[in-house]
Amino acid sequence: MLIFNNKADLISHLSTYKNNKSTIGFVPTMGALHKGHLSLLEKSFQENIITVISIFVNPTQFNNQEDLKKYPRTLEADVEKIKTVSDAIIVFAPSVDEMYDGNTESAHFSFDGLEYQMEGSHRPGHFDGVGTIVKKLFEIVKPTNAYFGEKDFQQLQIVKKLVQKTGMPINIVGCPISREENGLAMSSRNGRLTDEEKNKAAFIYKTLKEAREKFVNESIEAVKKYVYDAFSTHPEFKMDYFEIAAEDDLVPANTKDNKEYRGFIAVFLSNVRLIDNISLN
Ligand code: PAF
Repeated sequence: MLIFNNKADLISHLSTYKNNKSTIGFVPTMGALHKGHLSLLEKSFQENIITVISIFVNPTQFNNQEDLKKYPRTLEADVEKIKTVSDAIIVFAPSVDEMYDGNTESAHFSFDGLEYQMEGSHRPGHFDGVGTIVKKLFEIVKPTNAYFGEKDFQQLQIVKKLVQKTGMPINIVGCPISREENGLAMSSRNGRLTDEEKNKAAFIYKTLKEAREKFVNESIEAVKKYVYDAFSTHPEFKMDYFEIAAEDDLVPANTKDNKEYRGFIAVFLSNVRLIDNISLN
């Protein structure tokens, strides 16, 4: 299995395929891989001649240094998991210096307002960090197709906007959320929950599904109130936000229009911040 830590070596290796006009599928990750990541890899592996996965905990997208410190780094175990999909997958696992050349700072992006909503307003600077690293990675890998999970739906829309604005010829593929049997959206952060907390966290998706049912006949205000009330009876959760927004602009909506809507939630359970979302149409 090929593992590159150095971008020049990876670029040189991939250039041989580019000359053959092979398609490159790319799955950017921060490691601590779970079945959700593996499903992205499987899709990429089926749809492209070559698949590259990056494993890089990107410091500039963390607005909380404690969160960055605690983020699991499990490269050896990740490589074993990747092999279960295929050992032909190419791994790129650079250091912070390799990616940032001693200047660990974000560039500033305009994503036409997508960056100010929800995660953007609750995690200042987060999407500048994501935009910075995704652009750097795209410039190195130059993928044909890049795969992102819908759990981070706002990130997915922002990456589509990044590609549109920079004119990079990359097809961004959004993939459905992978869930545990109890409905909990798969996330590397779930590793910080005890089994008991994971059971409790099933309440998040259960409530989102109830919100989807209510959305058919009730106003946005009533659906939001329903979700806030439901969580207020479960004091183990601390609500960060629940919003209903159109998928295209992500601006929290007050009235229903002829658009595709999603419900977006961020809650703390035992100091672990969990996000999820659901299509409401
Ligand atoms: O979704 C993630 O894991 C990260 O935000 C990404 C896209 C790999 C950028 O660091």
